[in-house]
Amino acid sequence: MDVKTGIIYSSVDGQTLKICNRLRDEFLQNNQNVELFSINDFNGDISNYDKLIIGASIRYGVHNEGIIDFVKTNKIQLDSIKTAFFSVNLVARKPEKSTPSTNPYVIKFFKTIDWAPTVVEVFAGKLDYKKYPFFDRIMIQFIMWMTKGPTDSSTKIEYTNWDKVADFGKQLTKL
Ligand SMILES: Cc1cc2nc3c(=O)[nH]c(=O)nc-3n(C[C@H](O)[C@H](O)[C@H](O)COP(=O)(O)O)c2cc1C
Repeated sequence: MDVKTGIIYSSVDGQTLKICNRLRDEFLQNNQNVELFSINDFNGDISNYDKLIIGASIRYGVHNEGIIDFVKTNKIQLDSIKTAFFSVNLVARKPEKSTPSTNPYVIKFFKTIDWAPTVVEVFAGKLDYKKYPFFDRIMIQFIMWMTKGPTDSSTKIEYTNWDKVADFGKQLTKL
């Protein structure tokens, strides 16, 4: 039977979803079965899949709680298949914080969760002040100011490195 891959994501403003769509394309180009779900729509049955990819963005320092619960609940099954995890955040725009072993959110994630996916990656996300509600915009401007990033409220920058996403996708199709 053909290998079947599931991609499960949590995305608030769509950047993690955009990355997942790019990963899915890589599977489709290789004629591999792939299904994409938001964590909110996934029925929880992992047994249909030989590979599972989980992607989540960071908001105020943490990954989506639903993703964390999902991994904790399904740890035994996840350990029996090929898995990948990736995080999307703005700190990863900095080269020195752009790898799983140097990104603080990825490091923290694996300190608090007992799970060792086959592959881990981290991608820089998107900054789009105009999209954020007032409170969020002020907070992100503050975070950006603290981390020497752009604070002009008209800033819209996609920091995601799409070559890195494509390479990750290729790696996943070969797992
Ligand atoms: C309300 C809010 C809080 C955020 N908090 C953080 C943060 O603590 N650290 C960080 O690196 N990025 C933070 N970000 C940046 C997001 O991780 C980034 O915009 C990412 O592309 C969002 O992905 P998504 O659209 O899939 O949710 C935050 C963004 C928003 C809107």
